[in-house]
Amino acid sequence: MAEYIIAIDQGTTSSRAIVFDRKGTIISTGQKEHEQIFPKPGWVEHDPMEIWRNVQEVIGLALSRGDLTRHDIAAVGITNQRETAVVWDRKTGRPVYNAIVWQDTRTQPIVDRLAGDHGVDRFKDIVGLPLATYFSGTKIAWILENVDGAKEKAEAGDLAFGTTDSWVLWNLTGGTDGGVHVTDVTNASRTLFMDLETLEWRDDILAEFGVPRSMMPEIRSSSEVYGTAESSSLLRETPIAGILGDQQAATFGQVAFQAGESKNTYGTGNFLIFQTGEEIIRSKNGLLTTIGYKLGDGPTHYALEGSIAVTGSLIQWLRDQLGIISSAPEVEKLAAQVDDNGGVYFVPAFSGLFAPYWRPDARGAIVGMTRYVTKGHIARAALEAVAYQTRDVLDAVNADAGVDLTELKVDGGMVANDTLMQFQADVLGVPVVRPVVAETTALGAAYAAGLAVGFWSGLDDLTANWQEDRRWEPSMDEAERDRLLRQWRKAVTKSMDWVD
Ligand code: G3P
Repeated sequence: MAEYIIAIDQGTTSSRAIVFDRKGTIISTGQKEHEQIFPKPGWVEHDPMEIWRNVQEVIGLALSRGDLTRHDIAAVGITNQRETAVVWDRKTGRPVYNAIVWQDTRTQPIVDRLAGDHGVDRFKDIVGLPLATYFSGTKIAWILENVDGAKEKAEAGDLAFGTTDSWVLWNLTGGTDGGVHVTDVTNASRTLFMDLETLEWRDDILAEFGVPRSMMPEIRSSSEVYGTAESSSLLRETPIAGILGDQQAATFGQVAFQAGESKNTYGTGNFLIFQTGEEIIRSKNGLLTTIGYKLGDGPTHYALEGSIAVTGSLIQWLRDQLGIISSAPEVEKLAAQVDDNGGVYFVPAFSGLFAPYWRPDARGAIVGMTRYVTKGHIARAALEAVAYQTRDVLDAVNADAGVDLTELKVDGGMVANDTLMQFQADVLGVPVVRPVVAETTALGAAYAAGLAVGFWSGLDDLTANWQEDRRWEPSMDEAERDRLLRQWRKAVTKSMDWVD
């Protein structure tokens, strides 16, 4: 009897495989980082072949570390960095270009062209998203317009598009030898092409982008059997039964299933998701309307999302580009060398500003510098920026929802940082709560897969697994909070209007 579920988390910085038991406890993990390719300012790429190799390797690592074989695994769930676009040749199985990552801003001219006189909200009522470089649609268009021969091949039906869930699934189910070309509703809702009501690709929007429909994967629910792993895989014959974009997966792993429930994930970027149930709410405050989840033939659950492009990747940048820390956790120690931010505010608008501002013309800004400032202040300002950006998004959620959130469930790598979590609670003015299993992204994908094969019998089983680990109560006085937020918002305005 298979006692476990394996989740594959194909993220922005690494790929992971995590094995869970019925209680949602982690049994074993494998993880491998992949190269971040920056060919030009604003461009960010990944090598899809490297990603696929790493996925296979981490599956092997997780199985061997748990002393497990495929017979112990009831199902596979996939979760992924969303929006990152891979276009590959169905006959050779080779990508025609590197994956263009969600953070990449090269498609701004395509956005401008499509917005034209209509403005960036041209398709928003249908797809829930403004036209922006963030979403996959503009990235596919760029590949078709810029890679030699791609357009012709696409029109001949030889190319396939997928976000990395589809890329992993297609390879895992056999690739050129019968690979399944599917995505789930949550990933599809990040392309700019899916109608939120019908859950189908819109031919008129695809045509505007010049993307042939034949390239697009079939849209399925987040929890059903899509196929089984092919014969040479370590997981051969195991059903692949869940797909959720990573932020929706984290929400699911936090058992935030119902309207009014939410979570905030601290990853490469930060993403706050607020479930709105079966109702589609169109944001008036700079949030995205997206799919929360859909289980098999069940109803579609919608959500509002506040996406922040740069949070964890800012710490990575301090490590890799600036060299003031040698590992990410060191940022906490460096920041603790100083008592406060020394007047410094760091607006990490490396990909422009996402929610709630949506300003592609913004660029990173460090303001308030004096001769007094040390690298400790820079580290502190970087951490504070994570918390301030979250506050901006929370304000937008409260305004759209018409009620204030009374606490925030958090997860992701940076929630291990106590200083940051305390500061977050202080800046929000509401408690911040961390669950025992902070790997909620992988857990959510495991849950979706396990539900499809009857490993768990329903949402109540999952809710019973959730346990609080720690809670941070706000303790900053209001005047201080207001002062910090005033300065932060002034700094944000300084980052805008930078790109001509
Ligand atoms: O929308 C982008 C998001 O899915 C990436 O998440 O955790 O890889 O930074 P993460």
